[in-house]
Amino acid sequence: MDKNYMLKAIEISKLGSGFVNPKPLVGAIIVKDSKVIGQGYLKNFDSLSAINMAINSATESLDNSTLYINIESDFKELLETNIKNVVVGTLDPIKNGQEIETLKTNGISVTLGILKEECEELNEIYIHYSKTNTPFVFTKWAMTLDGKLATKTYDSKWISSDDSLKFVHHLRQQVSAIMVGENTVKQDNPMLTTRLEGIKISNPLRVILSKYGDLPLDSNIFKIDKDKKTLILCSSKIQKSKEKEILKTGAKILKFEEKNGHLDFKDIITALGNNNIDSLYIEGGSAVLASAFESKIVNKVYAAVAPKIIGGKNAITPVSGNGIEKMRDAIVLNKVSHEIIGNDVIIKGYIS
Ligand SMILES: NC(=O)c1ccc[n+]([C@@H]2O[C@H](COP(=O)([O-])OP(=O)(O)OC[C@H]3O[C@@H](n4cnc5c(N)ncnc54)[C@H](OP(=O)(O)O)[C@@H]3O)[C@@H](O)[C@H]2O)c1
Repeated sequence: MDKNYMLKAIEISKLGSGFVNPKPLVGAIIVKDSKVIGQGYLKNFDSLSAINMAINSATESLDNSTLYINIESDFKELLETNIKNVVVGTLDPIKNGQEIETLKTNGISVTLGILKEECEELNEIYIHYSKTNTPFVFTKWAMTLDGKLATKTYDSKWISSDDSLKFVHHLRQQVSAIMVGENTVKQDNPMLTTRLEGIKISNPLRVILSKYGDLPLDSNIFKIDKDKKTLILCSSKIQKSKEKEILKTGAKILKFEEKNGHLDFKDIITALGNNNIDSLYIEGGSAVLASAFESKIVNKVYAAVAPKIIGGKNAITPVSGNGIEKMRDAIVLNKVSHEIIGNDVIIKGYIS
């Protein structure tokens, strides 16, 4: 039963997805006599805590009830109630068990580690950011069965099915920032916004890697308003006139010293982390993905494989760059899993 209630806590925590960053997703369920009598979740960065919301929503007295929560939290409000049992999914790396100790010292029984793995995956962004102060980085690309990211004319709309395009928008909803390279802006003119029906949308910060700001100023990424913001990452050698043109659109610029003719991804994630960006979703293209993998900053990979064949030795593959010489040096993913969405296979794995 503990697992079922924890699953419910995980489920409702996801309602905060896209709005709580850089805080964790938190869901709390209060159960009494095998019945859920209260529930709450962290709605956004400044809202009431999940525990507070669950307590306020309780339909019965809290005597002999149990609270289920996916991650260790500030339990202050709980100490003022009659809840005497607490079930926690996983520890918060910042609180590091101190809140659990406080509960125990106040005579509250604590069970820790129910659905620990699921709770950790749910908050992998928060856990990584708390430990490193740099964003959790994941990549996602769609490729054909013959391993191409686009045709030889750079056409990639659309490799994957409508259902996996929806999956992309769910990923965008979860993150603080999404990144593409200059060529992707030129070839695809993407909006890089989240488009999902039936839920409140959170658009990630659009981050464009463009060494010298050579971007068409009528691109969709420059359609900026209070919900859609754009940051251009460029070299400190960018021409003043280019810089001015870009700033006029309302986009912001972050400049980096070039290292071996490129921007260093380690510098990039440090700067983004210092600006409260807890998660970065790199969508492509091939050159940016190569640069990210070469810098060893990628934590998680999603690859959608579509049952289509396009051929062409000049058609680009997902990761360009110099590549390696020997298979023994390949980046090997771990905790690999897959699911089928529409006609596509989505492969997921981690890089440790
Ligand atoms: N199927 C998919 O999922 C998907 C997703 C996105 C894009 N795409 C496709 O990918 C294609 C574009 O890919 P692409 O490889 O040509 O271009 P890209 O990766 O979008 O952009 C390349 C640009 O980024 C710059 N860049 C990369 N890493 C850099 C770094 N560390 N510092 C500074 N600049 C850096 C490159 O500069 P340098 O030239 O100096 O290296 C180059 O100017 C398009 O056809 C698009 O449709 C497909």
